[in-house]
Amino acid sequence: MSDQTILTVAGLKKTFKVGFQRKVVNAVQGLDFSVNAGEIYGFLGPNGAGKTTTIKMVMDLIRPSAGSVKVFGDSPGTLASRRRIGYLPEHPYFYDYLKPTELLEFFGRLHGIKKITRRKRIHELLEQVGLTHAKDRTLRRYSKGMLQRFGLAQALIGDPDLVILDEPLSGLDPIGRKEMKDIVSGLKAEGKTVFFSSHILADIELLCDKIAMIDEGRLLYAGPTRDFVVKGQLEVEIIASNVPEGIFTALEAHADSINSFGSRQKILCNRDSAQQLVKLLVESSAMVESVVPRSETLEEVFVRTAQHPQAEVSK
Ligand SMILES: Nc1ncnc2c1ncn2[C@@H]1O[C@H](COP(=O)(O)OP(=O)(O)O)[C@@H](O)[C@H]1O
Ligand SMILES: [Mg+2]
Repeated sequence: MSDQTILTVAGLKKTFKVGFQRKVVNAVQGLDFSVNAGEIYGFLGPNGAGKTTTIKMVMDLIRPSAGSVKVFGDSPGTLASRRRIGYLPEHPYFYDYLKPTELLEFFGRLHGIKKITRRKRIHELLEQVGLTHAKDRTLRRYSKGMLQRFGLAQALIGDPDLVILDEPLSGLDPIGRKEMKDIVSGLKAEGKTVFFSSHILADIELLCDKIAMIDEGRLLYAGPTRDFVVKGQLEVEIIASNVPEGIFTALEAHADSINSFGSRQKILCNRDSAQQLVKLLVESSAMVESVVPRSETLEEVFVRTAQHPQAEVSK
């Protein structure tokens, strides 16, 4: 992996004026981050955070109100930089009376890929996204997951160095998400750089080398995924059953929270209190079923950070 910067966003802002009264919507309010060659970079945040608006500015589909975007050291939208980018929009529309091979043939021609290489490339792409078995079906017969994978094949036809995907995991079931994540990992193995947005934060921390986390158009964090997840304080989860009523007050004094699930209690506490709580439980002859240290997930850290952004802003 090289440290060569491929995409830089600096002071990026976008304001929309909507309706008759020209009401101002500050969709993106000053973003700074950069993506290096060979990284899988996750662009994360809830719906309406400004992800699609940012991606559109990176793709030069809309112009920033302030700030700048540089792709391969150049302004976005130049022919040279476009040639090196593959893009999957959030809601792509494909002419669905065609078969994937026919449509890819069309995109291949647009990219100026020669006839002899085109066939081979389309064959390889369909294999890569797992659609070979369905290559003779028209796209109208494709499921959401298959269309998403087709969209990825379309983004990859020109053999781009940078792949930009807007919500590639959205609307997919857990298996579809796993397949899509595997394909994205495969792109990294090929040496490509992947920048993708997602409002789904669960299970993606292992996929992304770096993340930019945004909320309401503002950056909450940009940097290595590991450093963000480490912010998730380590807690300990104790599961116990048959806990005598009499010791609850003592337990509450040490625990962060106690939740009942039928005859079982789930007790969350910090590491230092775990010892004391287990001792109390054992001595009261409650049954200690498990004691598991856990760190917060990306999703939990995000929710906490979004509630107190000033305290946590970092780059
Ligand atoms: N063309 C537009 N005109 C007015 N407001 C817009 C437009 N596009 C996006 N927005 C607003 O900007 C905010 C960010 O939207 P978007 O970038 O689509 O978020 P995300 O992709 O993170 O869900 C939202 O409040 C949305 O309603
Ligand atoms: Mg979006």
